[in-house]
Amino acid sequence: MNEMMKAVRLHAFGGPEVLVHEDAPRPTPAAGEILVRVRAAGINPPDLMLRDGYRALPPEWRPNASFPLIPGTDVSGEVAAVGAGVSRFRAGDEVYALVRFPAALMEGSGAYAEYVCVPATEAALKPNALDHLHAAGVPMSLLTVWQFLIDQGHDEPNPFQAFRHRQVALAGKTVVVNGAGGGVGHLAVQIAKWQGARVIAVASGRHRELLRELGADEFLDYTQTPVATRVRDADLFLDAVGSPDLERCIPLIRPGGALFLVNPLGFAGQAQAAARGVQVSSLQVRSHGGQLAEATRLFDDGILRLVIDSSYPLADAAAAHQRAERGSIQGKLVLRV
Ligand SMILES: NC(=O)c1ccc[n+]([C@@H]2O[C@H](COP(=O)([O-])OP(=O)(O)OC[C@H]3O[C@@H](n4cnc5c(N)ncnc54)[C@H](OP(=O)(O)O)[C@@H]3O)[C@@H](O)[C@H]2O)c1
Repeated sequence: MNEMMKAVRLHAFGGPEVLVHEDAPRPTPAAGEILVRVRAAGINPPDLMLRDGYRALPPEWRPNASFPLIPGTDVSGEVAAVGAGVSRFRAGDEVYALVRFPAALMEGSGAYAEYVCVPATEAALKPNALDHLHAAGVPMSLLTVWQFLIDQGHDEPNPFQAFRHRQVALAGKTVVVNGAGGGVGHLAVQIAKWQGARVIAVASGRHRELLRELGADEFLDYTQTPVATRVRDADLFLDAVGSPDLERCIPLIRPGGALFLVNPLGFAGQAQAAARGVQVSSLQVRSHGGQLAEATRLFDDGILRLVIDSSYPLADAAAAHQRAERGSIQGKLVLRV
C-alpha cells in the first residue's frame, strides 16, 4: 500500500476555495528523479492560473485536467530518496527547484505537498545563506530573470514568438524594471545592478524603501507619476507586470533598445515598436538546475536577496492565494510545509 502525505489538491478548477488540504499518496522517485521532503513551497502566478483552469489563456492552451492534481512549482527541502541513476544528490542534501516547468503546466508540478518528485537536473543545492522559506521563493522568479537577462539555457521552441530570445548587454545601460516590487521584479533589479546597469525601478510607493536598499538608482511610483514623464532613452524596458497599456512605454525606449515582456499576452504594440526600431521579446521560463546552482553562489555571496511578502501554512494555501489575488506583492508569497 502507498504511504500517505499531506498535500493541497484540486478536484475542480475555481477560486481559492478549491484548494483542499488532505491526504494524498506519497510519490516515489522514478529513474533520474529525487524525492524531496518539502519544507517550503513558493507561490507563483501560474499556480493561480492553473487553479482557475487557465481561463486567461487562449482556449487551445487550456488544460484537459485529470483530477485530483497538486499545484505548485517552487520548492525547497531535503532529499529524502534518490531514484536510479542519480549521482549528483544524496539523501539529506538541502535542495531547491522549479519543478517540471513548463512540462507540467497543465497537470500541476506537485509542490504544495510534503513530498514531491523532482528530475535531478532541475534541482540545485540551496544557498546556505537562505533558509527553506526564502529559498522556496527563488526558483521561478530567479530563473525568469536569468533566462531573460543572462542566458536562456536551452534551445526549446519559444511558445510566445518564432525567434529565439536575445539578451542585451547591460553594463552601463539604463534599464527600467516595471513591477519592480514583485517576485520577478525585485530580483530583476538586483541582477541588472549586478550586471552593471543603471536601474530605474517602477512600482507603487510602498516598495520605494526596499527597492532603494536593493540598489535601484531611481524609483518611480507609477501611482503618482506617469512613467512617460520621467523616463527617456532607456536601453531596456523589462515589464514584469503584463500591463495592458505597455504601448505607451515604447517611446521611452531609444531606437535600437529593447522591450522585454515577462507576460506578453495581450501586447498590441508590435508595429509601433518595429517603427521605432525597438526589439520586443519574450520567453517562457523553464526549469534549470544548473542556473539555480549559479544563483546559489550569488545568494551565498550576498549579491542577491530574496524578499518574503508573507508566508502561510500549507493548510492555508487558500488564504495565500487570496493574498496573491489582492496584488501589490512585495517579493514572494511562500507556503510553510
Ligand atoms: N514568461 C514567463 O515565463 C513568466 C515567468 C514568471 C512570471 N511571469 C509573469 O510575470 C508577471 C509578474 O510575475 P511575479 O511573480 O513577479 O508577480 P507578482 O509577484 O505578483 O508581482 C507583480 C508586481 O507588479 C506590481 N504592479 C501591479 N500593477 C502595476 C503597474 N501598473 N505598474 C507597475 N507595477 C505594477 C505589483 O505591485 P505594486 O502595484 O504595489 O507595485 C507587484 O509587485 C506575471 O504576469 C507572471 O504571470 C511570466
